[in-house]
Amino acid sequence: MKIIRRKSDLRAMTGNWRRSGETIGVVLTMGALHQGHLSLVETAKARADRVIVTIFVNPRQFNNPEDLEKYPRTEDSDAQKLLPFGIDVLYVPEPEEIYPDGFATTISVTGVSEGLCGNTRPGHFDGVATVVTKLLIQTEADFSFFGEKDFQQLQVVRRLAVDLDLGTEIIPCPTMREEDGLAMSSRNLRLDAEARATAPAIRRALAAAAAALERGDTASDVLRRARRDLVGAGIAEIDYLELRSDPDLGPLAQADRPGRLFVAAWLDGVRLIDNQPVRAVARASRTGNRPVEPA
Ligand code: PAF
Repeated sequence: MKIIRRKSDLRAMTGNWRRSGETIGVVLTMGALHQGHLSLVETAKARADRVIVTIFVNPRQFNNPEDLEKYPRTEDSDAQKLLPFGIDVLYVPEPEEIYPDGFATTISVTGVSEGLCGNTRPGHFDGVATVVTKLLIQTEADFSFFGEKDFQQLQVVRRLAVDLDLGTEIIPCPTMREEDGLAMSSRNLRLDAEARATAPAIRRALAAAAAALERGDTASDVLRRARRDLVGAGIAEIDYLELRSDPDLGPLAQADRPGRLFVAAWLDGVRLIDNQPVRAVARASRTGNRPVEPA
């Protein structure tokens, strides 16, 4: 595994691979690698001839300077964790390789980036879209792998890859969870023991809410109960708790189309997000509501 910090060095490698007709799979990260990232790496290894993992803590996607400052930076241990996977390159670009002097371009995706984290983290998805576009171009990715935990990010990236003819296929991968259901995230490292013990309540509230929606309960009641469950568990600061349509993320008043529940909440000064698919429910009939398969 070569560690590369300059895009000219990276281009020399990818150019060779391209000339020999090899495909390139890329996993983009901000480091602090956990099992969720490593499962993306495993999928990439199975799918592409060559695999690049990138680590770049992207200042443009942090709307809160304290969050950026506290973001874990663990390059050495990240490199150790990657060794068993036999990837080809760990690309850790110097900041000026991504944002050269005078950088003045922003990629902004409308629609799927609006609402949810788009409301509560102004500028976040512009920062994500801009850095992802740059990294996919720099790595010449044929495939790039994104976890469904960041479901809105996944939809933003899918949109930009198509709209900008990047030639990269965006591959969604399932959310990896701890045994108690907490979605894996680099931010979990920042939870103290008490907050870590409370955090799985997020997953439990979403699972209960999805089950209730699939039974045909009214969305407004279900969301009220889920909020009450979170507050009861000690998670009182909730950025959003919403039902949206899947995959376009439009507003959804009732689970009569395939949907997804989304939550962002604060615990111990750490912002956690999660989501849960909800199957469409047939309209009420005399025999009760029956879940229907998404079209
Ligand atoms: O999901 C992340 O870690 C980041 O948003 C990404 C995709 C690496 C862009 O900085």
